[in-house]
Amino acid sequence: MMNVAVMCSGSGSNLQALLNAEARGELGARIVLVISNRRRAGALERARDAAKPAEYLSPRRFDSDDAYRDALLDLLRRHDVTLICLAGYLRKLPVDVVRTYADRILNIHPAPLPQFGGPGMYGHHVHEAVLAAGVAQTGPTVHFVDEEYDHGPVAAHVAVPVLPDDTPDTLAERVLAAEHRIYPRVVAAVAAGRLRVEQGQVVGALDG
Ligand code: GRF
Repeated sequence: MMNVAVMCSGSGSNLQALLNAEARGELGARIVLVISNRRRAGALERARDAAKPAEYLSPRRFDSDDAYRDALLDLLRRHDVTLICLAGYLRKLPVDVVRTYADRILNIHPAPLPQFGGPGMYGHHVHEAVLAAGVAQTGPTVHFVDEEYDHGPVAAHVAVPVLPDDTPDTLAERVLAAEHRIYPRVVAAVAAGRLRVEQGQVVGALDG
């Protein structure tokens, strides 16, 4: 059984979706740790409410990038973490963490990639860009994390229609609901070994 660390910066509604799936017995993995770089992140509260270890770990509280990296790796090792799920985590992971957990880090992004990703593309900025582009469809993308920001093989994408009177807020709400459905399914598939990366490509299927 995989041991999952969920890393968040914000409210943690995706974390909640993962916790709920675990509680229903649908995750096929154990959430063993929640990490946030923000002391007051709603995600930490959700973790505590679910009786999960909740750790505040901010790069800003360390003297050097290396010291932060070592603390993060140490924390992950102490909790025997085998899969990392980024869920609204607004920091780039240290490259050594990406290498240590190669092909075992997932991220959820609220739009198609690579079109609507990259530095600065987070929160309402993403949905504003989608509306400005005039595309008919958007929707969450779950991808394996590599050394580039918002990059790496796509594990799943859900199409969400853009409606004529959508605002960034209405679109965000509809996309978020789709995120909550897809992320637990992807984690379950990865945890079961149905979905994995081989030579930089995603192989397998989400369900089955
Ligand atoms: C989600 O839209 C996710 O796609 C993005 O950040 C947001 C996190 O929301 N990476 P929440 O904290 O899970 O509610």
